[in-house]
Amino acid sequence: MTVSAGPTPVDPMRGGSASANTTAATGQALRPHAEDAFAAELAALAALDDRPRPARWRLSPWAVATYLLGGTLADGTVITPKYVGPRRIVEVAVTTLATDRALLLLGVPGTAKTWVSEHLAAAVSGDSTLLVQGTAGTPEEAIRYGWNYARLLAHGPSRDALVASPVMRAMAEGMTARVEELTRIPADVQDSLITILSEKTLPIPELGQEVQAVRGFNLIATANDRDRGVNDLSSALRRRFNTVVLPLPETPEAEVGIVARRVEQIGRSLDLPAVPDGIDEIRRVVTVFRELRDGVTADGRTRLKSPSGTLSTAEAISVVTGGLALAAHFGDGVLRAGDVAAGLLGAVVRDPAADRVVWQEYLETVVRERDGWKDLYRACREAGA
Ligand SMILES: Nc1ncnc2c1ncn2[C@@H]1O[C@H](COP(=O)(O)OP(=O)(O)OP(=O)(O)O)[C@@H](O)[C@H]1O
Ligand SMILES: [Mg+2]
Repeated sequence: MTVSAGPTPVDPMRGGSASANTTAATGQALRPHAEDAFAAELAALAALDDRPRPARWRLSPWAVATYLLGGTLADGTVITPKYVGPRRIVEVAVTTLATDRALLLLGVPGTAKTWVSEHLAAAVSGDSTLLVQGTAGTPEEAIRYGWNYARLLAHGPSRDALVASPVMRAMAEGMTARVEELTRIPADVQDSLITILSEKTLPIPELGQEVQAVRGFNLIATANDRDRGVNDLSSALRRRFNTVVLPLPETPEAEVGIVARRVEQIGRSLDLPAVPDGIDEIRRVVTVFRELRDGVTADGRTRLKSPSGTLSTAEAISVVTGGLALAAHFGDGVLRAGDVAAGLLGAVVRDPAADRVVWQEYLETVVRERDGWKDLYRACREAGA
């Protein structure tokens, strides 16, 4: 027998669907979901989008890609770029969601896997909240279903006593489910996805029922290829996914652009007092990150040791955001070397022994000698003292 999962009571601990989220509706959410933060852009795209849409998709694949990559619509509406990177990557990711294969976003930390997954779900299904966070302790119930034990004891197993997982709800409603950090989930729990992704069904043996996925259902998983000690994907599961690898930003300008845009958005959402254009400081932070990450100076002349941390774009964003907060609250309102120095040190020196040596060497051989970087050199020396 096939049944639908039916309306699920909103569990306050897990948040409800976007429309039921009253915090977002009143504009008080610290970090609104993508579908709320960019509701106007999504609505403008939907209004102009006359291309074919797969079943239950809010937008056509073309419009979803435009939402992610940005562009100007025929009526002049500007769609801000969410993801900065190769267009083809986004096109492959979007089209995968329209097929019977699930999407696996893979990459080193901070390459926007989670960010892209959230925006894809928001654009395709209008709801990015059907989310399972993968950890070493993620139980099978988080992927399949659990029970409300009070109801189970009072009335026995029934649909009423069943607590649907986000994946089950996505299947029943033809939506996009998200699984974060798939490879952190124990292998046997990961395997509960195999039936879901290949048979598109979720059996409930206790009730002699099943939930069949309706058209429109698909799943986006993210995984970090740097994590050590994580559970590899079984080949059976991997075959159910199309893998898309998200690269680090190719050029310094692209990375500076990403950092500047995100810092501005985050600053606005935190109500930080506006700090005038800190682009020069952002450029220096990104240069430091890229040189240390690549193990060579930007001019290609000096080889450098790389520290143990990943120095991702995401960390550059945190360093600059932290610096802006310092400049706004304790500085003269202009982002200066002294505001980013402590953040830089914290991001680079993860291992107090080995990384400190790498950092000192970089400071003395590169930062000190570079034209116009004396203030950064001094600030970093002070921060490290
Ligand atoms: N190419 C990019 N385009 C746009 N934003 C980017 C890009 N790379 C990084 N970011 C920004 O970096 C931040 C962090 O990204 P996110 O958390 O999605 O990384 P992640 O790949 O999921 O990392 P982790 O492996 O640590 O979970 C986001 O705010 C995102 O905007
Ligand atoms: Mg992530």
